[in-house]
Amino acid sequence: MLVAPSILSADFGKLNDEITAICTAGCDLVHVDVMDGHFVPNLTIGPVVVNAVAKAATKPLDIHLMVENNPFFVDLFAPLKPRYLSFHIEEEKHPHRLIQKIRDLGISPAIVLNPHTPPSLIEYLLEDLDMVLLMSVNPGFGGQKFIPSVLEKALSLKEMILKRNAETLIEVDGGVNDTNVKALADAGVDIVVAGNYVFGSDHYKNAIDSLKV
Ligand code: DX5
Ligand code: ZN
Repeated sequence: MLVAPSILSADFGKLNDEITAICTAGCDLVHVDVMDGHFVPNLTIGPVVVNAVAKAATKPLDIHLMVENNPFFVDLFAPLKPRYLSFHIEEEKHPHRLIQKIRDLGISPAIVLNPHTPPSLIEYLLEDLDMVLLMSVNPGFGGQKFIPSVLEKALSLKEMILKRNAETLIEVDGGVNDTNVKALADAGVDIVVAGNYVFGSDHYKNAIDSLKV
């Protein structure tokens, strides 16, 4: 299992130290939640702050867009060269076009599914995607309770990926901790995002290690 701590739960008063700490503690990606106050009822950070995160990070960025007007935000964050740039399918009329745009910018495209969104909606996009992110909470806030139906969804998505001979990775985001990570691994999940569990612990390395099942 790869681990991507969500910096939403970091102490923003000492963001630089927090990023250094999770990278030193062995995280695989640095998950950055971008919220616009429209698609979700919360507002987070823009490219100025994410640029500071990118400079401090020794691991690649995994930028999760929770916004309206995806193409505008793709253009805004692409210069920071994240490894992954993911957008919500619920907010995109032309996902195939946007996937191509992200790939042409040299970034791995990913699509995010809210808890109610079936994986069948993106079946014909799987070959073009490097990752699918399944939300296991309603997007907008850290520290929420894990929604277990994501396990069933991961299983059927994995089946779809294998059937199509695609190499798409599955990431799960929201309420992940050491009690549910094993079930996620068994369901075929490759990467977990964890905010509260990592940044709320008093030993980041132990917390990250406990998710590497
Ligand atoms: C929620 C965000 C998540 C969140 C995860 O909208 O996408 O990345 O920060 O935080 P935890 O692990 O605390 O649920
Ligand atoms: Zn996220």
